Amino acid sequence: MSPASHSIRTHLCADLRSVHIGEQVTLAGWVHRRRDHGGLIFIDVRDRSGLVQCTFSPDDAEAFALGERVRPEWVVLLEGTVAARPEGTTNADMPTGEVEVNVASLTVLNTAETPPFEVEDGIETDESTRMRYRYVDVRRPEMLSCLVLRDRVAQAFRRSLGDRGFIEVETPILTKSTPEGARDFIVPSRMNPGLFYALPQSPQLFKQLLMVGGLDRYYQIARCFRDEDLRADRQPEFTQIDIEMSFCTQEHVLATVEEVMAEVMDAAGVAWPAEIPRLTHAAAMDRYGSDRPDTRYGMELHCLVDTFANSEFKVFSGALAAGGRVKGINAKGAGDWSRGRIDALNQIAVDSGAKGLAWVAFPTEGDVRSPVAKFFTDDEMAALREVLDIAPGDLALIVADEHDLANEVLGVLRVHLAEELELAADGFHPLWIVDFPLLSWDADEERYTANHHPFTRPFDEHLEMLESDPTSVLSYSYDLVINGLEVGGGTLRVHDTALQQRIFSVMGIGEEEAAEKFGFLLDALAHGAPPHGGIAFGFDRLVMLLAGGRSIRDVIAFPKTSSGACPLTGAPDVVSARQLKEVHLSLD
Ligand code: AMO
Ligand code: AMP
Repeated sequence: MSPASHSIRTHLCADLRSVHIGEQVTLAGWVHRRRDHGGLIFIDVRDRSGLVQCTFSPDDAEAFALGERVRPEWVVLLEGTVAARPEGTTNADMPTGEVEVNVASLTVLNTAETPPFEVEDGIETDESTRMRYRYVDVRRPEMLSCLVLRDRVAQAFRRSLGDRGFIEVETPILTKSTPEGARDFIVPSRMNPGLFYALPQSPQLFKQLLMVGGLDRYYQIARCFRDEDLRADRQPEFTQIDIEMSFCTQEHVLATVEEVMAEVMDAAGVAWPAEIPRLTHAAAMDRYGSDRPDTRYGMELHCLVDTFANSEFKVFSGALAAGGRVKGINAKGAGDWSRGRIDALNQIAVDSGAKGLAWVAFPTEGDVRSPVAKFFTDDEMAALREVLDIAPGDLALIVADEHDLANEVLGVLRVHLAEELELAADGFHPLWIVDFPLLSWDADEERYTANHHPFTRPFDEHLEMLESDPTSVLSYSYDLVINGLEVGGGTLRVHDTALQQRIFSVMGIGEEEAAEKFGFLLDALAHGAPPHGGIAFGFDRLVMLLAGGRSIRDVIAFPKTSSGACPLTGAPDVVSARQLKEVHLSLD
């Protein structure tokens, strides 16, 4: 059914075509633009579907007078006859460009103040003004199409998951802290003085409880809340496509998700590979210096340990002697970069924790520029060229440091260089990163923290190292990365109380604390928990990618600014002394 049915109009504006010529139509919408042309008035009327040109002739004095009065963004109802546009005035850029509506009567349903910005695509208005007047902003086709796309993608997920026996269940918003690595938003309880709810960082524990409950396959389009520093791809509240299934291996989860993603991408009209390539976490770090590598371009990291095994250059020999690595990338096409541009790369390396950045530029055949090449033997130069596949026009960038740091620094440089050199291929390049280490050592907190969350199942064959060598334990875990963005993440879960307790204990969560925070989970695991696992997609991020946007704010109807504020409503806001008293709080 069209949105024009059961309404005061007969058609949507942009649905009118040549086949409608001669028909009487009633349209409703907003005045987009008005032009006066030698006695004739033209008004483009806009609704959700788009624009149609309406004409007012002076022969019809009453309608003409109203046509003269209306202003942009007034809300109008028009009756008229669809007519072919006179020869030479058709507009091939407009879907309705062959026709116009000769208006017989016009009713002003509402007037409007002058809009704060033009209702057009590609405006330069600052984002907070757009957010302050979001109801005007979403009239713009590019914003509207993002919301439509979001709906299409959500429907496709629902259909695809429903077809596979997944059941949508809502889980609580007022709940207890779920650790996903961010701060909680907390809500004071009026009825329980001094006690607080936490808003869920994800439905993680509830979906696990549903598996214990025998639901077998669950999904939810779930709102999640995380109080963390915001960026273009992070909002304090965001939406996950949250999925969990029982009696499955990692392969079963990945196969299910691949089928679902293929259907969703098909519904979104996007080319998507038949199979999603996989890379272990270790290989991703080694080859790309990132656990979310952008595989739209190459520029992989290469090991130069053998190349410089006997180096006279103290920076390299020192790092190697300390058990570190020398690694490099080839920035193809940057061989003629100025000293200033290369110094900027050095700064990025230093900001990422490196002690410096060694570089060798090969601007043209036979020409070498470098502050460090003087320390290299001819053999070392030859080996460097070979390992990095150097050709004239290339720039070799080398970092010597502790293993992980060398990777990470080059990973950051790689992303930066790809942007500057515009290396990214078109399209969507998904990949699975699998086999994450279960735990990392957090030097600040002086304890082991979970890479995904503490409910992740370690590799069975690594269990014996859990206490003796925790960071070597790998886990059944997988992230979906698309074009360098982490779009989803999941794991198989621990379904055994004793193992869950062991993991808490390695993480420095004592029995008492575990009972207090996660007692309900431990209880549930002891009541017949099936093996289970799942995943959650960052829905906003996925839609942003599909929309070709750079910020998830563009695909969220009412997003927050980078300081977590809503310019439209003024949230967050003060509350009255009475409200505070009711929830037993006083301000510091
Ligand atoms: P995770 O914490 O990896 O996993 O979150 C899943 C996905 O959600 C998206 N995401 C965000 N999107 C926008 N703004 C944010 N602040 C934000 N934080 C995360 C990312 C991420 O990949 N319970 C587990 C899932 C599981 O194990 O099943 C979880 O929440 O795209
Ligand atoms: P130095 O001898 O410290 O002045 O460094 C000589 C050159 O090596 C400079 O270009 C530094 O940027 C670079 N350099 C210093 N430390 C490192 C490192 N850890 N890895 C790669 N290059 C480095």
